[in-house]
Amino acid sequence: MAGAVSAINIDDLRSLAKARLPRMVFDYIDGGAEDEITLRRSVDRFADYEWVWNALVDVSKINTATKVLGQPNAQPYFVSPTAASRLFHPMQGELATARAAQAAGIAYSVSTLASHKIETIAAAAPDIPKFIQVYVWKDRGIVRDFLARAKAAGYVGCILTVDAVSAGYRERDPRNGFSIPPSVNWKTATQALARPGYLADLARSPEIGPANFEGVDTGGRDVMGVINELFDRTMTWKDAEWMAKEWGGPFAIKGISTAEDARRAVGSGASTVWLSNHGGRQIDTSVPVVDLVPEVREAVLDEIEVIADGGVRRGSHVLKLIARGATSVALGRACLYGLAAGGEAGVARALEIMSVDVARLLGLLGVPDVSDLDQSLLRLRTR
Ligand code: FNR
Ligand code: LAC
Repeated sequence: MAGAVSAINIDDLRSLAKARLPRMVFDYIDGGAEDEITLRRSVDRFADYEWVWNALVDVSKINTATKVLGQPNAQPYFVSPTAASRLFHPMQGELATARAAQAAGIAYSVSTLASHKIETIAAAAPDIPKFIQVYVWKDRGIVRDFLARAKAAGYVGCILTVDAVSAGYRERDPRNGFSIPPSVNWKTATQALARPGYLADLARSPEIGPANFEGVDTGGRDVMGVINELFDRTMTWKDAEWMAKEWGGPFAIKGISTAEDARRAVGSGASTVWLSNHGGRQIDTSVPVVDLVPEVREAVLDEIEVIADGGVRRGSHVLKLIARGATSVALGRACLYGLAAGGEAGVARALEIMSVDVARLLGLLGVPDVSDLDQSLLRLRTR
């Protein structure tokens, strides 16, 4: 394999990422909670949904465009918010992914725990819709300032993540001695020294941490400490309603798993319901999202956008979520493996693999417009 640009599939990018990153950093991306059952099943479950297709349809023109948080999006997928991207590519981090998203004409979501300033990221990708993801600090003043800054920097949508009241138990992390920023001890030093190229990049770049809250006293906590101790565990639907009002624009609630909560989200002012189990990083043995989409779609009817994510490594995974009733699909690790494998070019390759997959499969399915895809072409394997 000759580098990220010649990767044949997302799994190739994962292998390259593994070869470039110290083990603790690769495992932070790649790992999940506890026995990693949801992590594995979220990918594997897609295979249980099998296609039938429409024959003899004119597929000379394929339309893949959809909407995300009401914004135009060239593909049925976009970039999910993920923390601390400079860990995976110390020089470029979020900027690489945002630029690759812009080149692909798809939306980009910035995490509260991003490692570049939201203004710098916005300037790197001025032409695409950008969303700000929010974890709620106990100090609401910090949240208000963050939202105001995001608005001023041109972010058009807000994402409230609700499936991480504390970090899940990702056992690879303590086993590897991992923290953000990485700390030096015999375990981490051995892993880092095995990847001298990465170490050189890390040494030449500023310390990695929550770049948007430099003025906030985090008491020396690492990022997981911030999540577990400085974010607000008293949050309820009332607070979600407050945030939707405070933002006053397209608003998604991310990390919904039931039809009832989907209805509550809409009742609290969300324009978009985001079905997710955080990529299997939170509750292990939570249900793969592809199983849940139809009941949530039915609960919110057609007017409300439903985003789905988790385990998406191929265009066919994207299209299965869409066929089950999602409006669009968010990509987490697929982009991060690309980022670690080759910076902006690596993310661009990940997105190219996805777009070619999606267009090819729509043609083969005899569905020239992605918005016409539905469950009539899927069968649940029972054999
Ligand atoms: C995440 N995810 C996440 N979600 C969020 O709302 N805020 C965040 O800061 C992060 N951080 C984060 C870091 C890393 C390393 C990963 C892998 C994931 C979850 C992410 O947005 C998405 O829901 C999942 O990644 C989807 O699953 P796949 O596509 O990675 O399998
Ligand atoms: C994670 C947190 C930061 O999944 O959302 O690592």
